[in-house]
Amino acid sequence: MNSQINELDLLKTLDRDHVWHHLTPGAAARKGLPMFVRGEGLRLWDSEGREYLDASAGGVWVTNVGYGRTEIADAVREQLAQLNFFAGSMGNAPAAAFAEKLLDKMPGMSRVYYSNSGSEANEKAFKMVRQIAHKHHGGRKSKILYRERDYHGTTLAALSATGQAERRAQFGPFVPGFVEVPHCCEYRTQYPESNDYGIRAADAIEEVILREGPETVGAIILEPITAGGGIITPPEGYWPRVREICDRYDILLIMDEVVCGVGRTGKWFGYQHYPVQPDIVTMAKGLASGYAAISCTVTTERVFDLLQEEAGDTLGYFRDISTFGGCLAGPAAALANMKILEEEGLVENSQRMGEYLLAGLHALKEKHPVIGDVRGKGLFAGLELVQDRMTKTPVDESVAIAIAGACKQMGVLIGRTNRSFEGFNNILNFSPALTATAEQIDQILTTLDKAISQVCG
Ligand SMILES: Cc1ncc(COP(=O)(O)O)c(C=O)c1O
Repeated sequence: MNSQINELDLLKTLDRDHVWHHLTPGAAARKGLPMFVRGEGLRLWDSEGREYLDASAGGVWVTNVGYGRTEIADAVREQLAQLNFFAGSMGNAPAAAFAEKLLDKMPGMSRVYYSNSGSEANEKAFKMVRQIAHKHHGGRKSKILYRERDYHGTTLAALSATGQAERRAQFGPFVPGFVEVPHCCEYRTQYPESNDYGIRAADAIEEVILREGPETVGAIILEPITAGGGIITPPEGYWPRVREICDRYDILLIMDEVVCGVGRTGKWFGYQHYPVQPDIVTMAKGLASGYAAISCTVTTERVFDLLQEEAGDTLGYFRDISTFGGCLAGPAAALANMKILEEEGLVENSQRMGEYLLAGLHALKEKHPVIGDVRGKGLFAGLELVQDRMTKTPVDESVAIAIAGACKQMGVLIGRTNRSFEGFNNILNFSPALTATAEQIDQILTTLDKAISQVCG
């Protein structure tokens, strides 16, 4: 026991001195951070022996089937022992089997391109759009639209397609050809005169297309429900209008399901809540719940066909590779992950428990004036905190930090907007594993209630 403690202390020192932590200011990291050492279901234990209920699915919406799933670990171990890797230019059994299972959940989609992060899946989509522009539109139609408040990843093109000013700050210059369209958060309406916000917000996209020239725009990338930008559920009528606009100008619709995909919102994919059919769908996080690094860019057969070699054009097929897109651990884990989701009815549980969670958050809104808005679908919910409900002035970021900190002190981990937008880092978010029970949701709500009382009085 003692030697175990000493080893942990040593590792914590090594961590403090050598690891450059994601999204963490150096001053905080230099004090030394606790380590998480074990997980089971929604529960986590840290190096100090403290237990937590994780309502953030691993901090960033990943662990959809929960921690400690030995059946996924076993599936990965078996696959790696048999064959761990060959480049994705060749076939392999788990990739083929998983593609079939995945496409079965996505009517209208037909090809799966493997890589290993959400950013990379989006980069693949962007490269497809750019190559289609070269092959079929004389190099025009290369612009890609993205929406204010959406996030699409950390690599430079994905960040160039991200509508979050603080995320982008100090990382420019950006990749050319990415153009922003207005957000669709009804609570923060830009069109107070309109009584059909969904249509108005979608029409704002058309205005940008007309301004840029439709012949220059190849695609638009959107999150079905905006995640890191503040759990923004789209307004009524938005999606069919977006599709209509895309069709009118021959623009590909890329759906970023990196967070929403694979059950998070109470359906297999977030877009399936709405009458809209995408051309390209990207996904990562919950695809294998963090048991392996895997992402997919899924396309229609039409997109696939647009990127095939023609006579005399030896460069005319999609000449792209992701080295670790050929690692067999990813699809092996994703297959085992999907088996659990199906056998345990977790997508349905996400929908049922999501309604329970949302009802609880609405009840807290009745009690705490600091809660300005409650949004979400499935086990994917957010609270927008305001100083005053009439003016909707956001609280300072420090309030959201304090509430999340108080929850953590009481053993519950929740999420929050993290240095994303100036003045609007005022959103708390909740995304427990899809196995969450009513008792666990109650613990999240009770803890949040106490934390808000503690911080806001
Ligand atoms: C909607 C969305 N797209 C893409 C990404 C990027 O994924 P990754 O961090 O795996 O590159 C994220 C990450 O949070 C995301 O929220």
